[in-house]
Amino acid sequence: MDEKPVKYKTDGRNKKVKSAPRSSRKKPEKKVLTLWDQASRWYDSLVGSQGTDFQKDIIMPGVLRMLEVGKKDRVLDLACGQGVFSRYLSCKGIHAEGLDSSEELLKFARSRSGASVRYHVGDASDPKNFKENSFDGIACLMAIQNIEKIDLLFKSACRWLKPGKCFVVVMTHPCFRIPRQSHWGWDEEKKLEYRRVDHYLTERNVPILTPPFADSKSFTLTYHRPMQSYISALVQAGLCVDGMEEWISNKNSLPGKRSKAENRARKEIPLFLALRARLMAPPAVEAMSKDLSV
Ligand SMILES: C[S@@+](CC[C@H](N)C(=O)[O-])C[C@H]1O[C@@H](n2cnc3c(N)ncnc32)[C@H](O)[C@@H]1O
Repeated sequence: MDEKPVKYKTDGRNKKVKSAPRSSRKKPEKKVLTLWDQASRWYDSLVGSQGTDFQKDIIMPGVLRMLEVGKKDRVLDLACGQGVFSRYLSCKGIHAEGLDSSEELLKFARSRSGASVRYHVGDASDPKNFKENSFDGIACLMAIQNIEKIDLLFKSACRWLKPGKCFVVVMTHPCFRIPRQSHWGWDEEKKLEYRRVDHYLTERNVPILTPPFADSKSFTLTYHRPMQSYISALVQAGLCVDGMEEWISNKNSLPGKRSKAENRARKEIPLFLALRARLMAPPAVEAMSKDLSV
C-alpha cells in the first residue's frame, strides 16, 4: 500500500489533541485542533476572497442553480471553510450562514466577509446545531469527502431543511478521481489519454499532506466512498435524490504533442459530481389536509 499510516488519534471531526508540556504545574490545558485548523493558512491562501477558478467558474454557479433558492432565502453553507460560498450567496442577496468545525478557518471566514454572513462553529453531523425546518437550502461544497460520518450529516441536513427544499453536495468525482487509486495514462497505439481506476468499491480513508510544510504531521483526511454509499445514505436519511450533474474541468493544455488528446480526455471524464437531494413534503399529511377541506 502506498498510503502513509495516520499517526494522530482522530475523532469524528478529524480532530487531534495537543497537550500542554508535562513540566507545566497547572492542570494540563488541552487545545483541540482539527486537521483543518493546521491546514487553514494554506487553504485560505489557495481560495482567497473569490475562490479558485474551479470554484468561481464551475462549482459555485452550478450549486446556486441546483439549489433553487431566491433572494432573502436562508441558506446554510455546510463545512463552509473560509466562507467562499457564503460570500458568493450573500452577494446575490441570499441570507447565508456558514458552519464549520475549524475555528481557524472560521477566523479567516469572518475577516473576509461582511457582517451579513453569520458563521457558526460545530460538527456538521450534530443535529443540535440548528432547529428543525430552519433553511430554504443547504449546500456542502468540496467537504463531504473530508467528513467521516456522512449518515449523521445527511440526517442533520434533513432535519434542518424546510419541506420541499434542496440539499446540494459537490465532491471530486468518486468514480474517476480516487486519491492514489486513479491516474491519467497514455495509450501510444491509440494516441489517447485514458483514466485508469485501480480501486473503486472499497471505502478507505487517505491522508493527504498539506503544503507548504508537507511533512507527515500536516495532513487532512479524504474518505473515498463509491457513489452507491452517497446515494443510499441520502435516501436512508429521508431525502429524495432528484438531481445529479457531472462537471468537467475548464482547463486547457498548453499547445503540444498531446494537448488535443488531453483536452479531449478532460471533456470526457468529469472532475466533479454534484448531487441534489430534496426533502419531500410528507404526502400523507398533504393528502389528509386536502381531504378535510372538501
Ligand atoms: C476542502 S475544505 C472545503 C471548504 C469549503 N466548503 C470550500 O468549498 O472552500 C473541507 C472543510 O470541511 C470541514 N470539515 C471537516 N469535517 C467537518 C465536520 N465534521 N464538521 C464541519 N466541518 C468539517 C473542514 O474544516 C474544512 O473547512
